[in-house]
Amino acid sequence: MKEPGCVILGIETSCDDTAAAVVLDGRKILSNCVASQIEIHQRYGGVVPEIASRKHLENLPLVIEAALEQAEIRFDDLSAVAVTYGPGLVGALLVGVSTAKALAYACGIPLIGINHLEGHIYANFLINPQLTYPLIALVVSGGHTDLLYLSGPGSYRILGRTRDDAAGEAFDKVARVLGLGYPGGPQIEKLAVTGDPQAIPLPRARLSGNSLDFSFSGLKTAVLNFIQRQKREGINWNPADLAASFQAAIVEPLVDKTVKALHQEGVKTLILAGGVSANVWLREAFQNADLPLGTQVYYPPLELCTDNAAMIAAAGYYRYQRGEISSWNLNAVPNLSLTAK
Ligand code: KG4
Ligand code: ZN
Repeated sequence: MKEPGCVILGIETSCDDTAAAVVLDGRKILSNCVASQIEIHQRYGGVVPEIASRKHLENLPLVIEAALEQAEIRFDDLSAVAVTYGPGLVGALLVGVSTAKALAYACGIPLIGINHLEGHIYANFLINPQLTYPLIALVVSGGHTDLLYLSGPGSYRILGRTRDDAAGEAFDKVARVLGLGYPGGPQIEKLAVTGDPQAIPLPRARLSGNSLDFSFSGLKTAVLNFIQRQKREGINWNPADLAASFQAAIVEPLVDKTVKALHQEGVKTLILAGGVSANVWLREAFQNADLPLGTQVYYPPLELCTDNAAMIAAAGYYRYQRGEISSWNLNAVPNLSLTAK
């Protein structure tokens, strides 16, 4: 069926999820298909880049077909193709970028390259298209922990970021030590439910001055040291208490620095984005935080927090509206920055 309006096919292959989605006018999800590779990578305790690329090659045509079928549209109905071109694993990104280019060229429609982190941010606009600038975004994923000031569409200023591990990475590493499997965030969150977040004292990084940067690698080491000490001394410990204490030690600085940024910038709108924003403890911590009066906090529904292609199609819609089309030379950029022009 031909949909009136702007119909964008989004494609996402930056890490271990092969995703395609069709979104109408940047706000109506007609389909959102994800083929997860988690079971394959779980065996290795993390993503194996070479396997990820090969699986994307196998899965992407099927996922695109499923996305069009569920949306009840044909290639002819598409207005544009939006694709993640970075940051991410180069081989994995290349599969998405080459496929998107071929499709857009064959259909005679524009190609729109999207920064994966911008995609996470636009998952919020997909659900709340009325969002207005300026706003502050906390992007917390497996590869990034960035506190950003957005003065307008596509205009990013970095207020703070992690100096070492990303928040999601810390969740994954500690989950691995606890034998909880990959990805670690949801597993730690589940285990933490019955634990006491104050049971085990864990450090919060103290960065100099008024820095809005984060640091999580010391926390990971502290967890390792704690486990080794307990084992050495033959002391029993409760994994749920450790999970809850660790989760609290991740969430506390994320909330503190974000609240500081809101006060500092005089901004009243906060959006959370990325896989770690699925964490209920984090979401609740923001509800209970000492936010500036009148601050509104937004986060995507759980299924739009982790990697998906609807968020890429949504980000693509806004770029398309502004006439920001990519050239046929678009390439994968593994370390793509949000502030790159
Ligand atoms: O955004 P995402 O799906 O992929 C990247 O762009 O990295 O984020 C994945 C990360 C993983 O590190 C995963 O452990 C974490 O998000 N994550 C969570 C939760 N769900 C996913 N971390 C904490 N709590 C969760 N519920
Ligand atoms: Zn992501």
